[in-house]
Amino acid sequence: MKVGILTGGGDCPGLNPAIRGFVMRGLDFGLHVTGIRQGWRGLVQGIVDSEPLTVADVEPLIWQGGTALLSSRTNPYASPADLEATRANIRKYGFEALVALGGEDTLGVASRLFDEGINTVGVPKTMDNDLDKTDYTFGFDSALGVCVECIDRVRDTARSHRRVLVVEVMGRHAGFVALNAGIAGGADWILLPEETPDIGAMCRHLETVYARKGYAIVVASEGAVLAGADAGAGGGLDSFGHQSLSAVEVGRTVAAEIERRTEIETRHVVLGHIQRGGAPSAFDRVLATRLGIHAAECVHEGDFGKMVALRGNAIIRVELRDAVRARQVPTKLIAEARTLTNK
Ligand code: F6P
Repeated sequence: MKVGILTGGGDCPGLNPAIRGFVMRGLDFGLHVTGIRQGWRGLVQGIVDSEPLTVADVEPLIWQGGTALLSSRTNPYASPADLEATRANIRKYGFEALVALGGEDTLGVASRLFDEGINTVGVPKTMDNDLDKTDYTFGFDSALGVCVECIDRVRDTARSHRRVLVVEVMGRHAGFVALNAGIAGGADWILLPEETPDIGAMCRHLETVYARKGYAIVVASEGAVLAGADAGAGGGLDSFGHQSLSAVEVGRTVAAEIERRTEIETRHVVLGHIQRGGAPSAFDRVLATRLGIHAAECVHEGDFGKMVALRGNAIIRVELRDAVRARQVPTKLIAEARTLTNK
């Protein structure tokens, strides 16, 4: 069976181990796994490998960040011509199944193609951890580790200079990265997209903290919405209709507001793509590998329209169409974190 594999959306650590797991298990079943380059763009434009992936190709991928198959935010459904080209290339290259590794957008395309009668399987990835129906997406744990290391580093400057330091992290409209980085990094306040920030309460608390230890750390999710901050200042929309949040620079606005209200010297740092780079964590290597293995088993069994997912310690299969919904941090988790940032 000829199977096309692609990675779409923002790269993250774990994509390569997942590709490796899929190819390795696919070989057990005699699958011919062919790389489609640059996400869905590869199917729109026919950027497809001429030979199937081999053990030698994928063997070293276990420790490599990014994606060997390259990525893009191309949406074939954005234009009728692109969609027609996608369908034509699926026929031309003889793909009997497609495996897409991605988040809500990439898997949303896989789900729509499945509804059109094309055999697809999805594998959940994103550093944002905001995909429904899986306990974790790979990429999240690695990104979180980077965030915590960075917080520990900027704490040195915050302490040495008696400053407030605001650390802006990614996560789009979900605060999983910010919440967990804030807890693990010992932040004094965490700003999340899930809540309307109370800047007055934050500043009063930072003054208390500052009086006690002489510095303070704030973690701000890029998707936190501040009254007065110009959310429209972000970059343009991608082909899935998402605004780039990095240009909003919520961390800058937060830092300026803290300094204005408290008169404590304040700096901010935007971690940006540093969070998505580097070797996958051990957790992500194992999770991604297992998801890749199970996706190959789905293909072998002809169980299409599914996304493989982590539930507890088990890899399960869920309907793709149910999984392609973004989720946010549950209120209970936010309440837990609040007990650490109200002292
Ligand atoms: O979805 C992953 C993510 O890193 C988000 O956290 C962030 O908002 C976005 O991608 C950035 O996208 P790009 O790399 O296209 O600027």
